[in-house]
Formats: sequence, structure tokens, C-alpha cells
Amino acid sequence: MEPAQEKFMSVFAQIQRDGAQDLLQYLQKSDFFTAPASNRRHLSVEGGLCLHSLHVYERLLKNLQNEYGKNVPYSLETIAIVALLHDVCKVNFYTIDYKNQKIDGVWQQVPYYKIEDTLPYGHGEKSVYIVNGFMRLTREEAMAINWHMGAFDDRCKGMGMQTMSEAFSKFPLAFWLHISDMQATYLDEQSE
Ligand SMILES: [Fe+2]
Ligand SMILES: [Fe+2]
Repeated sequence: MEPAQEKFMSVFAQIQRDGAQDLLQYLQKSDFFTAPASNRRHLSVEGGLCLHSLHVYERLLKNLQNEYGKNVPYSLETIAIVALLHDVCKVNFYTIDYKNQKIDGVWQQVPYYKIEDTLPYGHGEKSVYIVNGFMRLTREEAMAINWHMGAFDDRCKGMGMQTMSEAFSKFPLAFWLHISDMQATYLDEQSE
């Protein structure tokens, strides 16, 4: 097993809720541990999605400890759930295709990740839908996963922006997850 996958499993072990093991089996049978985190920008490499989820977990834990000290208002289980599972919408989402590219003056076929969404249900809302099929999320966990893209979410137009902003004020975990996702993407994964 890859070190990132091993780390993922040890963090996932904090999730003791009914259905967690079925969810883990689903992830193991899917391409979760080999999929990239994105097709162009951050961690567009095999295993990128698993690594990105771990980066978000580490950032979220640190952000919450910095903010609340010993009185973090969320359990380790909740922190693991929202961080590790926020991007499960990217399971069975990328395929490898080939394109022509000139390398040292010679045309060659090079592989790239192409989006082929097998379950077109959106992004954050899709992760909530998938996780809820196995394991019940609390209201705050569902809010956090649903709105983890913040203002980058396609739904943030007109009233959608207000809805997202209200979710952030009423459920601070959503705000923290968004910040942690941004830090992982733009600070931890730029050179990887
Ligand atoms: Fe995402
Ligand atoms: Fe993410």
C-alpha cells in the first residue's frame, strides 16, 4: 500500500459511525486512491486525490487548534469526515486520454487526465450525496462538505452567493473547511 493510502486509512479509522466501513470499501473498489486531485492544476498525478484529502485534513486540524486551542468544538471524527471526504465527488471522474504534443521538435502522444463524470451531480453537493448513501452526516458536516468551494462554487451567483455566505456564518466548519482546502491547493500543492 502507498504511504499516502496508509496514512488515509489511519485517519479514517477515527470514523466509527455506522456505514463507515461500507464507505471505505466503496472507496477501495473505486479509483479514489489512484485518481488525481485535478486535471490541470494541483496534484494532477496518480494518487493526487488521496494526498490532497490528507493535506486538507492536516490544514483543518491546525486551523482549528490555532483558533480554539484546547476547546475545538468539533470531534476528531467530524474533522476526519469533512476533510477526507469533501472531494469524493472526484471518484470515477477522470480518465486517461492521449494528446499530440511536440517534445524536442518531435510530435509525441502524451497522456493527460480528461473529465468523464460518471455521476453528474455537481461538486460539494455530490460528495454529500455519495457519503450520505453509506453513512449519515450531521447537519454541520453536510454544510461543510456542500459549501467547501466557497465563492468558487458554480452555484454562487445571485442568491446562491447569499446562501453560501449564510452557511458560512451559521456553520463555521464550512468556512474552516473552505480555507483549509484553499491552503492545501495553493500553498501545499503548487510545486507537487
Ligand atoms: Fe472540491
Ligand atoms: Fe479539495
